[in-house]
This record gives sequence, structure tokens and C-alpha cells, in this order.
Amino acid sequence: MKILKLTAVLTAIVFFAGTWFLKMPVESQTRRESAVDRVRRERFRHNGSLPTEARAGDFDAPGKARSARTLSVEAPTGYDNLTNDYIEQGPPFNTINEENVVPLRSFNDDRFIFEEVESIDDGLGPTYNAQSCRECHQNVVTGSGSQVTVQRTGRTDDGVFYESLGGSLIHSRSTYPEIVELVADIDTTRTFRMSPSALGDGFVEAIANSTLLAIRDGQPAEQRGTATMVPVFEGDGSARVGRFGWKAQHGSLLSFSFDAYLNEMGITTPTLPEENTASGTYVGYGSEYDPVEDPEDDGIDARAFADFMRATKAPSRAAISPRTTAGQAIFNRIGCNLCHVTAITTAPAGTVINGGNFTIPEALGDKIIHPYSDFLLHDIGTGDGIPILPTPEYEATAVMIKTAPLWGLRTRSRLMHDGLTFTLNEAILRHGGQAAQSSRDYDRLMAVQKSQLIAFLKSL
Ligand code: HEC
Ligand code: HEC
Repeated sequence: MKILKLTAVLTAIVFFAGTWFLKMPVESQTRRESAVDRVRRERFRHNGSLPTEARAGDFDAPGKARSARTLSVEAPTGYDNLTNDYIEQGPPFNTINEENVVPLRSFNDDRFIFEEVESIDDGLGPTYNAQSCRECHQNVVTGSGSQVTVQRTGRTDDGVFYESLGGSLIHSRSTYPEIVELVADIDTTRTFRMSPSALGDGFVEAIANSTLLAIRDGQPAEQRGTATMVPVFEGDGSARVGRFGWKAQHGSLLSFSFDAYLNEMGITTPTLPEENTASGTYVGYGSEYDPVEDPEDDGIDARAFADFMRATKAPSRAAISPRTTAGQAIFNRIGCNLCHVTAITTAPAGTVINGGNFTIPEALGDKIIHPYSDFLLHDIGTGDGIPILPTPEYEATAVMIKTAPLWGLRTRSRLMHDGLTFTLNEAILRHGGQAAQSSRDYDRLMAVQKSQLIAFLKSL
């Protein structure tokens, strides 16, 4: 079965790769692509198999009965800097410093490392976006999101996307003034992307592939989401259903950590040892710009980031009132919950995920979460035109965005992936495409119902 699937996938890849190459305009065939960019693309590869991981977990969907007999309990929630018991709390946070911090020992140690400000001597840059994970993931506690955006650019010819030289992620800072990446005039496919929250992401990681596929399969054809198949860098080569990032481009928190350490901060690890270029020009070790040999970190920091995020509690709700409850009923009635799934149960403790690299512990297994997302990609008319990678496999993702999880919504003043929407009313009205029906239904609500729905959203 697996071999059959693999053959089908490979045939499809070869076929699409062929047509893709033929479609490539002559100019871009000659456009410079650095070896590093090619390596980056090569690393983002899986072997075509997608383990189910566990029996599909329970979830809420319109018209679907919740399983009556379940051992699951609600996941802990709160914005309180306290562990969800995946790892112990550790020594008081304010007693931890550069000298006594022990990576992977505790929540507080790993939080310290997530907050650590990196400098040139640690390997920062030469091109980067910020000095610490916390710089972009801090509102209202370490690990959540912020208003910081990153820029992504490239260009689209004949429907085919080409990344900017050096990759679609623009590094807006650098350790030398002359190598800050600037956007090229011809790269007119452009977007900002907001920094999302990673609170409770350990529970999201613990959702079995089969659960996300079951959610997809239960959606009506017009609203059906797309599950991405993405590699787990630290795994055995098998894929996972992606669920992290605006394009659901990662399925493992450790993979995301390696990726962010390199791409947001410029720090290489044994998993991703090649430094980023500055718009295609080599600026790594051996050039005049980078004094630190690769890998700049032994990979322990990335493990500490992942363990910190795995140990965070899920976002908590604000006060629930008759008004918010009425609003939730309207939310469900007009089909918002088709994509913004209101409850999902994580896989049982003991389930092996991430290509054999992670076993779900008691603290994360069999937990009910309320992310208000299906973690699938949809085309609701807001797509930024930039695929996960400019390869045939991911081409379709250009026009899609992952259903934004609505938990923690009351902490965000800038909405949607680009942060360019200012109010909840405008965010809903911006839904077109696969979500056009529910935004039309919203528009037709009476004023009092609209305000109940908005009150519900503000309680998340
Ligand atoms: C310059 C700001 C910035 C820095 C620094 C940064 N991030 Fe992020 N983070 C983002 C943005 C923007 C996204 C969404 C990116 C996308 O989808 O294209 C993101 C997404 C994530 C996600 C996915 C969350 C989800 O649920 O979808 C995780 C996990 C994450 N970052 C972890 C980290 C870690 C770990 C570090 C430190 C190594 C880090 N980030 C540093 C801006 C930042
Ligand atoms: C077909 C799937 C789908 C349906 C149905 C849907 N949404 Fe969404 N929603 C999305 C996607 C995808 C995004 C992210 C879009 C983006 O960032 O460009 C989103 C984003 C949002 C946001 C912005 C969240 C943030 O953090 O910025 C809000 C608020 C929201 N939806 C509310 C609703 C409400 C209310 C309804 C019902 C009227 C609804 N959605 C129906 C898919 C859907």
C-alpha cells in the first residue's frame, strides 16, 4: 500500500516537475540560484509516506456526535508562565542566569533560553530578523505571538512562483549595513506575515495525522481543507501533516525550532548547518561577515525551544456570559466552526510521532483542546501567492492560508496573516472563496446577533 502510494507520488512529482520546467521562462532559468538555496530546498524533503500515528481522535464538527466514552480531559490553560507538566517548573525564574542555566532541565531553564538575546559571537546573523525568539513571541507571556511581522517576497510568472534571490523570507536586519536584504522591484509577489502564538502548541503537535485527515474528510466539498505533507527534519524521512506556520509548513516543534533559529536569527545547527545568503551572496563563515564556524549551535538550544513550547499551557478563555454563549451558537450556526474547529482530542500518551522521534507523554496525550482551527489550508481569497516552497509538490499552497486558530484572539489587535485587518468585523468580511458563504451569512445577521458573535470572539 505504502509502496503503491510512493510510486504514485513519485510519478506525480516527475510529471509536474517536467511541466513546471517547461513553463519556466528562459530568463528565470538563467537567474542565479546559489548552491545554498538549492541545499535548503533539498533538505525540505520527505519519503512520501504518511503514518496515521493513532486512531483518529475525537473532534467537534457540525452534525457530528462526540464520542460518549472517552478518557480524555481538558488541557490546562492560562497565561501564567507555568508548565503544563510536560517538564517540571524548575528553579525560580529570576534565579536563572547565563552561568547556571541548564538546557532541557525545566520549564524555567528552557524559557530562559527561548528569551536569550544572541550576539555576533553566538553566531547571530549575518542576516537575521531578531535576536531572540521572545522578541516576536511574547504577548502576553513568552511563547505567544506579537505584532512583529516578517516580509516574504518573490515573483510570479505565468502562475509559477519564483523566490527572491536568497529565498522568499527577507532578512530585514544584518550585522553589517551593506548586506541587509532589500526587496527587488521585480519581486512583486509580496506579503507581511504576523508572528503567531506558540502557546499550547505541544497539544497541537500531539494531534495524530489521522485526526486532521478525518476533520478534512468530514468537511463539505466546497469548504474542504488541504492537508500539507511536510518533512520532519529529525525523523526517519516519513512525512507529517503540517500544522505550524501560516502555511502549515511544519509538523514538528523541533523542526520549526531549527528552522526559526536559522531563518529568523541566523544561527546554524547540525540539522541546518548552511548559513543563509544575503540575497544570494555568500556571507557565511570564511567571508568577511561571519566570524563563527558552523554549526554555530550544537542543536541543544533548538531542543530547549521545542521543549519550552511543548510545556506551555493552551490560551485560556475570558469570562463566559450568556452573551458569549449566544454568540458561540451563532458562530456554529453560520458554519464558522467548519474550519475553526471548536474541540480536538490529542492522540493517546505513548503514541510515537515525528518520524519516530517523539513519544507523546501523559501531559500532552488524550487532552481536549479548543484551538478553533482545523490546521488545514484553505483558499478564502487572502492567499499571499507564496507557496511553502517553489516546488511542484507545494505549488497549490500559494493561494492558501491555514485556518487561523482563534484561541487567544483577544490578545491580537492586528488580524489575519498579514496583520492588515484592524477589526473583527472586517476580518470576517474579508473571508471570501471557501468561506464566502459564512461571511455572507454573517453579513445578513441582525445587529444584536453580530454583536453577540463578536462578543464571543473577544472572549477567546
Ligand atoms: C522576527 C520575528 C520572529 C522570531 C525572532 C522568531 N519567530 Fe517564530 N514566527 C514568526 C513568524 C512571522 C511566524 C509565522 C511564519 C510563517 O508562517 O511564515 C512564526 C511562527 C512560529 C511558530 C509556529 C506557530 C504556530 O502555531 O503556527 C513557531 C513554533 C515558532 N515561530 C517558534 C519560534 C522559535 C523557537 C524561535 C526562536 C528560534 C522563533 N520562532 C523566532 C516570527 C518570529
Ligand atoms: C473555509 C474555512 C473558513 C471558514 C468557514 C471561516 N474561516 Fe475564519 N479564517 C479562515 C482562514 C484560512 C483564516 C486565515 C486567513 C488569513 O490570515 O489570510 C481565517 C481567519 C479568521 C480570523 C482572523 C484571526 C486572526 O488571528 O487574525 C477571524 C477573526 C475569523 N477567521 C473568524 C471567522 C468567523 C467568525 C467565521 C464565520 C463567519 C469564519 N472565520 C469562517 C478560514 C475560515
